[in-house]
Amino acid sequence: MATKTRDIGELVDGARLWRRLMAMAEIGATANGGVNRPTLSPADNESRRLMLDWAKPLGLEASIDEVANLYLGRPGSDPEAAPVLIGSHLDSQPTGGKFDGAYGVLAALEALEAIAEAGIETRRPIEVVAWTNEEGSRFQPGCMGSAVFAGALELAALRSVRDSAGVTVGAALEETLAGLAELPRRQGGFPVASYLEVHIEQGPRLEAAGNAIGAVTGIQGSRRFGVEVLGAEAHAGTEPMPQRRDALKAACQIVAALEQALADESDRVRFTVGRFEVFPGSPNTVPGRVFFTIDLRHPEQQTIDWLTAAIEPTALANARGCEVRVEVRASAAPVRFDAEVAALIRRRAEALGLGHMELLSLAGHDAGPLSRVCPAGLIFVPCEKGISHNEAENAEPDDLTAGARVLASCLVALANR
Ligand code: GLV
Ligand code: MN
Ligand code: MN
Repeated sequence: MATKTRDIGELVDGARLWRRLMAMAEIGATANGGVNRPTLSPADNESRRLMLDWAKPLGLEASIDEVANLYLGRPGSDPEAAPVLIGSHLDSQPTGGKFDGAYGVLAALEALEAIAEAGIETRRPIEVVAWTNEEGSRFQPGCMGSAVFAGALELAALRSVRDSAGVTVGAALEETLAGLAELPRRQGGFPVASYLEVHIEQGPRLEAAGNAIGAVTGIQGSRRFGVEVLGAEAHAGTEPMPQRRDALKAACQIVAALEQALADESDRVRFTVGRFEVFPGSPNTVPGRVFFTIDLRHPEQQTIDWLTAAIEPTALANARGCEVRVEVRASAAPVRFDAEVAALIRRRAEALGLGHMELLSLAGHDAGPLSRVCPAGLIFVPCEKGISHNEAENAEPDDLTAGARVLASCLVALANR
């Protein structure tokens, strides 16, 4: 009688994955149920330590590169073969959720543990990776560790980037690397056979469709800007209104005008001002300087380019006598993932009896930079009401288990390719 072979995905232990997710969420836990783990902060470093604690009994080989990307490796049978990398990030937004990033790293560890428990030997080595600074909220730009790995960013040029307290990337990196000095150091950017990441969708489409698995086809493009509005400080009581060059009022008018100029009926343009700083920030001084950021996204590069061309003229036309400087701080072109990896994700989801669909990622992910250097894939699972970058972010344990199952199943296929 023919016996059906079990898919390795079925050996994933969803309860263990959930326990680890909840333990990880205690690091940097916020009062409202979220997490605050800024990249390269003490909390981020603690999360790396916890990964090392879990990796030790599994005999995984830990190492770290020049940008503090953390690797936990399992050898393959062919010592010459390039590894398959799986992972995501452990840093969070300042008021982030428990699952954005951490889920992908812990699901990767769970997939590796399931493979080890099944006694499976793969041809290629497998390495779990926690990429440094995916979020880009403490230090810009995001996807820093994966982009440096993939050669899309130069670490030397990033070392002088400062956080809002004036700490540089270089100094924060040195502190993190010194805290993990016992780990073997290696150079990032080594050859990789393929890369796979699992992440919550951070949007409502999978939940609405009732599908547990998304095979992500690509990532929409994005561009970040810094805008500086320079007016003149003056006394709040004495300076006549018509004479003022109030940087705050100009900045507010600019943001409102940009909202109109970038509006699109099909709701595909994403325009966000997430940081807005007013100087000197005194109640009785007319603001002399405002700095704000723009995060602009769209699936098509051409649209990002022509929207970009509209930003400076719109800002200048609404400057109310102030000086305005617009600077592009970072750009990420739209990504297309490897079609074979996306097809593999759907086949493995089908074999595991899970509902699946294709979709485009509207958020950025480390799989984006990795797609420059190897065939890369991204698996999405639903999250509650699509809420993310919010302490209320939530996901169903069954969906998280499903994503880890598909990850493990695809991983064995890729590591034997
Ligand atoms: C990642 O968090 C992003 O901003 O897309
Ligand atoms: Mn993320
Ligand atoms: Mn995020």
